[in-house]
Amino acid sequence: MALPHLEKLASRYAHMAVEAEKSGDRETAIEYYKRAAEVMGKIIQLYPDNPFRHLYLKQLQEYQNRINYLESLKEPASPGGEPEDDFDLEELVDEKPRITFKDVADLEHAKRILKRAVIYPALRPDLFVEGWYRGILLFGPPGCGKTMLGAALSNEIDAAFFNVDAPEIMSKWLGEAEKRVARIFRKARELEVQGRPVIIFIDEVDDLLGIHDSEVGGEARARNQFLKEMDGILEKGAKRRIFVIAATNKPWKLDIGFLRRFQIRVYIPPPDFEVRKLLFKHYTKRLALDGAVDFDELARLTEGYSSSDIRDIVVAAHHKVVEEFIETKGLYAKGEPRPLTMDDFVDIIRLRRPSITPEMVKAYEKWNEKYGTLA
Ligand SMILES: Nc1ncnc2c1ncn2[C@@H]1O[C@H](COP(=O)(O)OP(=O)(O)O)[C@@H](O)[C@H]1O
Ligand SMILES: [Mg+2]
Repeated sequence: MALPHLEKLASRYAHMAVEAEKSGDRETAIEYYKRAAEVMGKIIQLYPDNPFRHLYLKQLQEYQNRINYLESLKEPASPGGEPEDDFDLEELVDEKPRITFKDVADLEHAKRILKRAVIYPALRPDLFVEGWYRGILLFGPPGCGKTMLGAALSNEIDAAFFNVDAPEIMSKWLGEAEKRVARIFRKARELEVQGRPVIIFIDEVDDLLGIHDSEVGGEARARNQFLKEMDGILEKGAKRRIFVIAATNKPWKLDIGFLRRFQIRVYIPPPDFEVRKLLFKHYTKRLALDGAVDFDELARLTEGYSSSDIRDIVVAAHHKVVEEFIETKGLYAKGEPRPLTMDDFVDIIRLRRPSITPEMVKAYEKWNEKYGTLA
Protein backbone atom coordinates (compact mmCIF):
# COMPACT_ATOMS: atom_id res chain seq x y z
CA MET A 1 0.00 0.00 0.00
CA ALA A 2 1.30 3.44 -0.87
CA LEU A 3 1.88 6.13 1.69
CA PRO A 4 -1.28 8.19 1.06
CA HIS A 5 -3.40 5.08 1.43
CA LEU A 6 -1.71 4.15 4.66
CA GLU A 7 -2.13 7.67 5.93
CA LYS A 8 -5.78 7.63 5.06
CA LEU A 9 -6.21 4.31 6.77
CA ALA A 10 -4.54 5.54 9.96
CA SER A 11 -6.66 8.63 10.02
CA ARG A 12 -9.82 6.66 9.35
CA TYR A 13 -9.09 4.39 12.32
CA ALA A 14 -8.29 7.39 14.48
CA HIS A 15 -11.52 9.00 13.44
CA MET A 16 -13.48 5.87 14.34
CA ALA A 17 -11.70 5.77 17.68
CA VAL A 18 -12.75 9.34 18.40
CA GLU A 19 -16.32 8.53 17.43
CA ALA A 20 -16.36 5.48 19.67
CA GLU A 21 -14.93 7.54 22.50
CA LYS A 22 -17.60 10.17 22.02
CA SER A 23 -20.31 7.60 22.27
CA GLY A 24 -18.72 6.31 25.47
CA ASP A 25 -17.51 3.02 24.03
CA ARG A 26 -14.05 2.93 25.52
CA GLU A 27 -13.19 -0.64 24.50
CA THR A 28 -13.90 0.00 20.82
CA ALA A 29 -12.03 3.29 20.98
CA ILE A 30 -8.95 1.54 22.35
CA GLU A 31 -9.20 -1.08 19.62
CA TYR A 32 -9.31 1.55 16.87
CA TYR A 33 -6.51 3.62 18.38
CA LYS A 34 -4.42 0.45 18.40
CA ARG A 35 -5.10 -0.11 14.73
CA ALA A 36 -4.29 3.51 13.94
CA ALA A 37 -1.04 3.17 15.89
CA GLU A 38 -0.20 -0.05 14.07
CA VAL A 39 -0.63 1.56 10.66
CA MET A 40 1.35 4.60 11.75
CA GLY A 41 4.11 2.29 12.97
CA LYS A 42 4.15 0.66 9.58
CA ILE A 43 4.48 4.03 7.84
CA ILE A 44 7.42 4.94 10.06
CA GLN A 45 9.05 1.62 9.35
CA LEU A 46 8.47 1.73 5.59
CA TYR A 47 9.53 5.34 5.07
CA PRO A 48 12.49 5.92 7.35
CA ASP A 49 13.73 8.88 5.27
CA ASN A 50 10.44 10.68 4.85
CA PRO A 51 10.94 14.37 5.72
CA PHE A 52 7.71 14.31 7.72
CA ARG A 53 8.79 11.37 9.80
CA HIS A 54 8.87 13.46 12.97
CA LEU A 55 5.20 14.27 12.44
CA TYR A 56 4.35 10.61 12.06
CA LEU A 57 6.26 9.82 15.23
CA LYS A 58 4.41 12.54 17.05
CA GLN A 59 1.11 11.20 15.79
CA LEU A 60 2.00 7.70 16.90
CA GLN A 61 2.91 9.03 20.33
CA GLU A 62 -0.47 10.72 20.52
CA TYR A 63 -2.33 7.52 19.70
CA GLN A 64 -0.32 5.69 22.32
CA ASN A 65 -0.99 8.34 24.94
CA ARG A 66 -4.66 8.05 24.21
CA ILE A 67 -4.57 4.26 24.51
CA ASN A 68 -2.72 4.48 27.82
CA TYR A 69 -5.14 7.04 29.07
CA LEU A 70 -8.23 5.03 28.09
CA GLU A 71 -6.74 1.86 29.54
CA SER A 72 -6.02 3.61 32.79
CA LEU A 73 -9.73 4.36 33.05
CA LYS A 74 -10.46 0.66 33.05
CA GLU A 75 -8.92 0.17 36.49
CA PRO A 76 -11.60 -0.66 39.03
CA ALA A 77 -12.85 2.40 40.89
CA SER A 78 -11.80 2.78 44.50
CA PRO A 79 -14.24 0.74 46.55
CA GLY A 80 -16.92 2.68 48.33
CA GLY A 81 -16.51 6.45 48.04
CA GLU A 82 -16.81 8.80 45.10
CA PRO A 83 -15.37 7.74 41.76
CA GLU A 84 -11.87 9.21 41.52
CA ASP A 85 -11.30 12.20 39.30
CA ASP A 86 -8.80 10.53 37.02
CA PHE A 87 -7.90 13.71 35.18
CA ASP A 88 -4.18 13.48 34.70
CA LEU A 89 -2.51 16.84 35.00
CA GLU A 90 0.83 15.42 33.98
CA GLU A 91 -0.69 14.73 30.61
CA LEU A 92 -1.27 18.44 30.13
CA VAL A 93 2.22 19.50 31.09
CA ASP A 94 4.30 19.35 28.00
CA GLU A 95 7.79 19.38 29.37
CA LYS A 96 9.56 20.53 26.27
CA PRO A 97 7.69 21.56 23.17
CA ARG A 98 10.46 21.60 20.63
CA ILE A 99 9.19 24.49 18.54
CA THR A 100 11.09 27.78 18.83
CA PHE A 101 10.42 31.27 17.46
CA LYS A 102 12.72 30.43 14.54
CA ASP A 103 10.40 27.64 13.37
CA VAL A 104 7.51 30.09 13.15
CA ALA A 105 7.73 31.83 9.78
CA ASP A 106 7.36 35.60 9.97
CA LEU A 107 4.75 36.92 12.46
CA GLU A 108 7.40 39.44 13.50
CA HIS A 109 4.87 41.86 14.92
CA ALA A 110 3.43 39.19 17.20
CA LYS A 111 6.86 37.97 18.23
CA ARG A 112 7.90 41.49 19.19
CA ILE A 113 4.83 42.00 21.35
CA LEU A 114 5.31 38.61 22.99
CA LYS A 115 8.94 39.41 23.75
CA ARG A 116 7.94 42.55 25.58
CA ALA A 117 4.90 41.08 27.29
CA VAL A 118 6.20 37.65 28.27
CA ILE A 119 9.83 36.88 27.52
CA TYR A 120 11.48 39.88 29.17
CA PRO A 121 9.37 39.81 32.35
CA ALA A 122 9.75 36.03 32.60
CA LEU A 123 13.53 36.19 32.30
CA ARG A 124 14.19 39.46 34.15
CA PRO A 125 11.33 39.85 36.61
CA ASP A 126 13.62 41.98 38.80
CA LEU A 127 13.56 44.78 36.23
CA PHE A 128 9.78 44.91 36.03
CA VAL A 129 9.18 46.57 39.36
CA GLU A 130 5.69 47.61 38.32
CA GLY A 131 4.65 44.10 37.41
CA TRP A 132 3.61 42.77 34.04
CA TYR A 133 0.70 41.43 32.06
CA ARG A 134 -0.51 37.88 32.61
CA GLY A 135 -3.32 37.52 30.12
CA ILE A 136 -2.49 37.41 26.42
CA LEU A 137 -4.92 36.66 23.64
CA LEU A 138 -3.84 35.48 20.21
CA PHE A 139 -6.56 35.82 17.60
CA GLY A 140 -6.83 35.30 13.87
CA PRO A 141 -7.90 32.81 11.21
CA PRO A 142 -7.25 29.08 11.71
CA GLY A 143 -3.96 27.55 10.66
CA CYS A 144 -1.75 30.62 10.85
CA GLY A 145 0.43 29.89 13.85
CA LYS A 146 -1.39 30.68 17.10
CA THR A 147 -0.85 27.28 18.67
CA MET A 148 2.65 27.18 17.29
CA LEU A 149 3.53 30.55 18.83
CA GLY A 150 2.17 29.48 22.20
CA ALA A 151 4.40 26.41 22.19
CA ALA A 152 7.42 28.34 20.88
CA LEU A 153 6.99 30.96 23.56
CA SER A 154 7.18 28.43 26.36
CA ASN A 155 10.38 27.12 24.86
CA GLU A 156 11.93 30.57 24.69
CA ILE A 157 11.53 31.06 28.42
CA ASP A 158 11.88 27.40 29.42
CA ALA A 159 8.45 27.45 30.95
CA ALA A 160 6.30 24.57 32.05
CA PHE A 161 3.65 24.45 29.36
CA PHE A 162 0.06 23.51 30.14
CA ASN A 163 -1.74 22.79 26.93
CA VAL A 164 -5.45 23.08 27.59
CA ASP A 165 -7.95 22.42 24.88
CA ALA A 166 -11.07 24.34 25.84
CA PRO A 167 -13.56 22.30 23.79
CA GLU A 168 -12.17 19.12 25.29
CA ILE A 169 -12.44 20.42 28.84
CA MET A 170 -15.93 21.70 28.20
CA SER A 171 -17.43 18.78 26.34
CA LYS A 172 -15.85 15.75 27.86
CA TRP A 173 -15.65 17.08 31.34
CA LEU A 174 -18.84 19.02 31.57
CA GLY A 175 -19.75 19.05 35.23
CA GLU A 176 -16.09 18.50 36.12
CA ALA A 177 -14.86 21.43 34.06
CA GLU A 178 -14.90 23.87 36.93
CA LYS A 179 -12.85 21.59 39.19
CA ARG A 180 -10.42 20.91 36.41
CA VAL A 181 -9.85 24.56 35.75
CA ALA A 182 -9.10 25.05 39.44
CA ARG A 183 -6.66 22.14 39.46
CA ILE A 184 -4.77 23.41 36.44
CA PHE A 185 -4.20 26.77 38.08
CA ARG A 186 -3.27 25.17 41.40
CA LYS A 187 -0.67 23.00 39.72
CA ALA A 188 0.64 26.02 37.80
CA ARG A 189 1.12 27.94 41.05
CA GLU A 190 2.95 24.99 42.55
CA LEU A 191 5.39 24.77 39.67
CA GLU A 192 5.94 28.51 39.65
CA VAL A 193 6.77 28.55 43.32
CA GLN A 194 9.40 25.92 42.57
CA GLY A 195 11.09 28.50 40.34
CA ARG A 196 9.83 27.92 36.85
CA PRO A 197 7.76 30.28 34.74
CA VAL A 198 4.51 28.71 33.65
CA ILE A 199 2.46 29.15 30.52
CA ILE A 200 -1.12 28.01 30.52
CA PHE A 201 -2.13 27.82 26.89
CA ILE A 202 -5.85 27.67 26.27
CA ASP A 203 -6.70 26.80 22.73
CA GLU A 204 -10.09 27.75 21.27
CA VAL A 205 -10.82 29.73 24.36
CA ASP A 206 -14.10 31.05 22.93
CA ASP A 207 -15.49 27.61 23.69
CA LEU A 208 -14.78 28.08 27.36
CA LEU A 209 -15.63 31.73 27.60
CA GLY A 210 -17.79 32.68 24.71
CA ILE A 211 -21.46 33.20 25.30
CA HIS A 212 -23.36 30.10 24.27
CA ASP A 213 -26.93 30.15 23.13
CA SER A 214 -27.88 27.07 25.01
CA GLU A 215 -25.99 26.87 28.21
CA VAL A 216 -26.03 24.28 30.90
CA GLY A 217 -25.02 25.32 34.41
CA GLY A 218 -21.62 23.64 34.17
CA GLU A 219 -20.39 25.97 31.47
CA ALA A 220 -21.17 29.12 33.39
CA ARG A 221 -19.50 27.69 36.48
CA ALA A 222 -16.35 26.79 34.55
CA ARG A 223 -16.23 30.27 33.07
CA ASN A 224 -16.59 31.91 36.46
CA GLN A 225 -13.92 29.68 37.93
CA PHE A 226 -11.60 30.65 35.11
CA LEU A 227 -12.21 34.37 35.61
CA LYS A 228 -11.67 33.95 39.33
CA GLU A 229 -8.36 32.16 38.73
CA MET A 230 -7.30 34.90 36.33
CA ASP A 231 -8.02 37.50 38.99
CA GLY A 232 -5.94 35.46 41.41
CA ILE A 233 -2.84 35.71 39.24
CA LEU A 234 -3.56 39.30 38.20
CA GLU A 235 -3.63 40.41 41.82
CA LYS A 236 -1.41 43.35 42.51
CA GLY A 237 1.86 42.56 44.20
CA ALA A 238 1.60 38.89 43.31
CA LYS A 239 4.57 38.80 41.00
CA ARG A 240 4.06 35.39 39.69
CA ARG A 241 5.52 34.32 36.41
CA ILE A 242 2.35 32.61 35.31
CA PHE A 243 1.12 33.64 31.90
CA VAL A 244 -2.20 32.66 30.47
CA ILE A 245 -2.10 32.63 26.69
CA ALA A 246 -5.43 32.11 25.03
CA ALA A 247 -6.06 31.51 21.33
CA THR A 248 -9.23 31.95 19.31
CA ASN A 249 -10.53 32.12 15.76
CA LYS A 250 -13.63 33.92 16.99
CA PRO A 251 -12.58 36.87 19.10
CA TRP A 252 -16.01 38.51 18.70
CA LYS A 253 -17.49 35.77 20.87
CA LEU A 254 -15.50 36.91 23.88
CA ASP A 255 -17.21 39.19 26.35
CA ILE A 256 -15.93 42.25 28.06
CA GLY A 257 -15.29 40.41 31.32
CA PHE A 258 -12.84 38.21 29.51
CA LEU A 259 -11.20 40.99 27.53
CA ARG A 260 -10.62 43.01 30.68
CA ARG A 261 -8.39 40.22 31.96
CA PHE A 262 -6.56 39.75 28.68
CA GLN A 263 -4.98 43.10 28.10
CA ILE A 264 -2.56 42.09 25.38
CA ARG A 265 -4.43 40.99 22.27
CA VAL A 266 -2.32 40.07 19.30
CA TYR A 267 -3.56 39.60 15.78
CA ILE A 268 -2.03 36.60 14.02
CA PRO A 269 -2.78 37.43 10.38
CA PRO A 270 -2.85 35.12 7.38
CA PRO A 271 0.43 34.94 5.46
CA ASP A 272 0.88 37.67 2.85
CA PHE A 273 2.68 37.17 -0.46
CA GLU A 274 6.20 37.34 0.97
CA VAL A 275 5.37 35.07 3.87
CA ARG A 276 3.72 32.50 1.62
CA LYS A 277 6.89 32.46 -0.41
CA LEU A 278 8.87 31.95 2.76
CA LEU A 279 6.57 29.13 3.84
CA PHE A 280 6.95 27.30 0.53
CA LYS A 281 10.72 27.61 0.86
CA HIS A 282 10.62 26.56 4.49
CA TYR A 283 8.53 23.44 3.91
CA THR A 284 10.36 22.29 0.78
CA LYS A 285 13.80 22.82 2.31
CA ARG A 286 14.50 19.11 2.52
CA LEU A 287 12.76 18.01 -0.69
CA ALA A 288 14.20 17.61 -4.19
CA LEU A 289 12.80 20.32 -6.46
CA ASP A 290 12.85 20.79 -10.21
CA GLY A 291 14.83 23.88 -11.23
CA ALA A 292 11.72 25.49 -12.71
CA VAL A 293 9.78 25.63 -9.44
CA ASP A 294 8.89 29.29 -9.09
CA PHE A 295 8.25 30.42 -5.52
CA ASP A 296 6.86 33.79 -6.58
CA GLU A 297 4.29 32.06 -8.71
CA LEU A 298 3.36 29.63 -5.90
CA ALA A 299 2.86 32.56 -3.54
CA ARG A 300 0.71 34.31 -6.15
CA LEU A 301 -1.46 31.22 -6.59
CA THR A 302 -2.11 30.83 -2.88
CA GLU A 303 -3.72 34.11 -1.90
CA GLY A 304 -6.19 33.28 0.91
CA TYR A 305 -4.47 30.04 1.86
CA SER A 306 -3.40 29.67 5.48
CA SER A 307 0.11 28.68 6.56
CA SER A 308 -1.28 25.31 7.44
CA ASP A 309 -2.81 24.98 3.94
CA ILE A 310 0.60 25.68 2.44
CA ARG A 311 2.22 23.04 4.56
CA ASP A 312 -0.51 20.59 3.50
CA ILE A 313 0.02 21.44 -0.17
CA VAL A 314 3.72 20.66 0.10
CA VAL A 315 3.03 17.42 1.95
CA ALA A 316 0.45 16.36 -0.64
CA ALA A 317 2.76 17.16 -3.56
CA HIS A 318 5.53 15.20 -1.95
CA HIS A 319 3.27 12.24 -1.23
CA LYS A 320 2.20 12.25 -4.85
CA VAL A 321 5.74 11.72 -6.16
CA VAL A 322 6.46 9.11 -3.51
CA GLU A 323 3.35 7.21 -4.50
CA GLU A 324 4.26 7.49 -8.15
CA PHE A 325 7.74 6.18 -7.38
CA ILE A 326 6.42 3.16 -5.49
CA GLU A 327 3.78 2.38 -8.06
CA THR A 328 6.12 2.52 -11.04
CA LYS A 329 9.26 1.06 -9.47
CA GLY A 330 7.83 -1.22 -6.80
CA LEU A 331 7.53 -0.90 -3.06
CA TYR A 332 11.12 -1.78 -2.16
CA ALA A 333 12.85 -0.23 -5.16
CA LYS A 334 16.14 1.56 -4.55
CA GLY A 335 16.55 5.17 -5.59
CA GLU A 336 14.64 8.36 -5.04
CA PRO A 337 11.32 9.78 -6.19
CA ARG A 338 11.72 12.36 -8.97
CA PRO A 339 12.07 16.03 -8.02
CA LEU A 340 8.84 17.98 -7.49
CA THR A 341 7.81 20.12 -10.43
CA MET A 342 5.74 23.27 -10.69
CA ASP A 343 2.89 21.18 -12.13
CA ASP A 344 2.82 18.94 -9.08
CA PHE A 345 2.15 21.97 -6.91
CA VAL A 346 -0.28 23.62 -9.28
CA ASP A 347 -2.38 20.44 -9.61
CA ILE A 348 -2.76 20.22 -5.88
CA ILE A 349 -3.48 23.91 -5.38
CA ARG A 350 -6.26 23.65 -7.97
CA LEU A 351 -7.92 20.89 -5.97
CA ARG A 352 -8.04 22.91 -2.78
CA ARG A 353 -10.08 25.87 -1.70
CA PRO A 354 -8.32 28.58 0.28
CA SER A 355 -9.52 28.47 3.88
CA ILE A 356 -9.51 32.22 4.46
CA THR A 357 -11.92 34.54 2.67
CA PRO A 358 -11.47 38.31 2.27
CA GLU A 359 -14.57 38.80 4.45
CA MET A 360 -12.94 36.88 7.28
CA VAL A 361 -9.81 39.00 7.01
CA LYS A 362 -11.90 42.15 7.13
CA ALA A 363 -13.69 40.96 10.26
CA TYR A 364 -10.40 40.20 12.03
CA GLU A 365 -8.92 43.53 11.00
CA LYS A 366 -11.91 45.38 12.26
CA TRP A 367 -11.79 43.60 15.59
CA ASN A 368 -8.05 44.27 15.75
CA GLU A 369 -8.54 47.99 15.23
CA LYS A 370 -11.02 48.11 18.03
CA TYR A 371 -9.47 45.75 20.60
CA GLY A 372 -6.05 44.68 19.38
CA THR A 373 -2.65 45.63 20.79
CA LEU A 374 -1.27 47.50 17.86
CA ALA A 375 2.33 48.18 18.86
N1 LIG B 1 3.85 30.96 10.84
C1 LIG B 1 4.00 29.66 10.55
N2 LIG B 1 5.19 29.18 10.19
C2 LIG B 1 5.36 27.88 9.90
N3 LIG B 1 4.36 26.97 9.92
C3 LIG B 1 3.14 27.38 10.26
C4 LIG B 1 2.89 28.74 10.61
N4 LIG B 1 1.59 28.85 10.92
C5 LIG B 1 1.05 27.63 10.80
N5 LIG B 1 1.97 26.73 10.40
C6 LIG B 1 1.72 25.30 10.15
O1 LIG B 1 0.34 25.04 10.29
C7 LIG B 1 0.09 24.16 11.38
C8 LIG B 1 -1.13 24.64 12.17
O2 LIG B 1 -0.83 25.88 12.76
P1 LIG B 1 -1.43 26.31 14.17
O3 LIG B 1 -0.35 27.00 14.94
O4 LIG B 1 -2.08 25.16 14.84
O5 LIG B 1 -2.52 27.34 13.70
P2 LIG B 1 -3.67 28.02 14.55
O6 LIG B 1 -3.41 27.70 15.98
O7 LIG B 1 -3.53 29.48 14.22
O8 LIG B 1 -4.94 27.45 14.02
C9 LIG B 1 1.37 24.19 12.20
O9 LIG B 1 1.55 22.98 12.90
C10 LIG B 1 2.42 24.41 11.16
O10 LIG B 1 2.74 23.21 10.51
MG1 LIG C 1 -4.52 26.03 16.70
